[in-house]
Amino acid sequence: MSERAQFVTKMGVIAASVGSAVGLGNIWRFPYEAGMHGGGAFICIYLLCVFLLGIPVIIAEFVIGRATHKNANSAINLLAPGSKFRYVSYIGIISSVMILSFYSVVAGWIIEYLFQSIIGNLNGHSPEDYSNIFNSLVGSPWRSVLWTILFLGINFLILRKGIQKGIERISNLLMPILFLLLIIFCINSLLLPKAKEGLEFMFSPDFSQVSPSMIIGAMGQAFFSLSLGLTCLLTYASYFNDKTPLIKTATIIAILDTCVAILAGVIIFPAVFSFGAEPTAGPKLVFEILPSIFNQMPGGYLWSIALFTLLFFASITSTISMSEIFITFCTEEHNMSRKKATRLNTGIALVLGSLCALSFNVLSDIKVFDKTFFDLFDYVSSNILLPAGGFILAVFVGWVMNKNIVANQLTNNGTLNVRTMRPILFCIRYIAPLAIILIFLYVIGLFDSLAALLF
Ligand code: PFF
Repeated sequence: MSERAQFVTKMGVIAASVGSAVGLGNIWRFPYEAGMHGGGAFICIYLLCVFLLGIPVIIAEFVIGRATHKNANSAINLLAPGSKFRYVSYIGIISSVMILSFYSVVAGWIIEYLFQSIIGNLNGHSPEDYSNIFNSLVGSPWRSVLWTILFLGINFLILRKGIQKGIERISNLLMPILFLLLIIFCINSLLLPKAKEGLEFMFSPDFSQVSPSMIIGAMGQAFFSLSLGLTCLLTYASYFNDKTPLIKTATIIAILDTCVAILAGVIIFPAVFSFGAEPTAGPKLVFEILPSIFNQMPGGYLWSIALFTLLFFASITSTISMSEIFITFCTEEHNMSRKKATRLNTGIALVLGSLCALSFNVLSDIKVFDKTFFDLFDYVSSNILLPAGGFILAVFVGWVMNKNIVANQLTNNGTLNVRTMRPILFCIRYIAPLAIILIFLYVIGLFDSLAALLF
């Protein structure tokens, strides 16, 4: 493609990438993962993953995308002709479709909750009722599948409009409003009777709870939340112009994304303790807690409509970005029309998404590796494929790519004086790949077997 669109404004670049990063991963997945893994210790490890692995891998994706203005496959082929590293684009395509499938189910729940808020059904119940309301939604095969289809339909329509108009306009407008709303909800939660317990749960880590599943969960959450390791940010960076400062942009994205996740935690955990819920509730946590929060706020009816509307938009900017990986690949590598590629992407997600939606009801007994389809897609993509993709991309930029091209990208052809370049390169070459490998080895129990051998 000779005339690839470019993000016109500086805000557009950041807003669209933040739009991809900020989504249900921050507001739905982060609190429940943190809750299931003991709170504080999980959050500490999560933060380490964001700063030591996340930022370097974002930069690695940016460097490849902006240096070539191409999708992952052609980009790597251009930078290292014939290199096997280009197969990382398949990890991107597979994981993006898997994520789109289960993500659309959760986004479908958001639409149902928005609908229930509007017709006033979400008001005036007890915390136990909210648990039943959620269970009856996910327990109903046709309702969950229908909302999933509706969400994918909306995603499809927006994608057909093309990158700049669709993504940039929506993200520019809505992200700041979402931030503002989250801050208001935070203040409300901090005034709840058991706010202190909630904050202690989040911020006083108990490291005796550290386990392989917690560590891989924290790493997976960092990759998922930052939209990392599946070449999504690489694809976005291929639309950046020459003036975008890559290191600064990556740092801003990581910080904003982390702030949203922490804000979500500060909203949810004080409420969990105040309303007598269990932090370990899993995927339903946020859907049970948020309505209780609205109930207790003056004007809760309007707050719930506002929050679910914004959550809907936060999810759509994320699903647009993951669909874009697949679509760019089909249009640029296989000369498919954008229309056809969008249809194919949506079609696959419809089938897999329905399987995920049904795994809470009629298919709940079908398990692969002891996980339902929903859990399996989530676990395999977030905890295995994304870190594996991140590993490959970091090794490529750190060890394979021409060092001058990397330096030129980081300094915008020498026009920026970047003091953090050396430590960042060190993280890309050594810290990120080694940490990812060590975490994988730890999780498959290699260290335990070694210890058993030695002692
Ligand atoms: N980062 C998004 C979120 O936190 O909701 C999820 C996501 C978007 C993952 C795009 C992967 C991706 F390519």
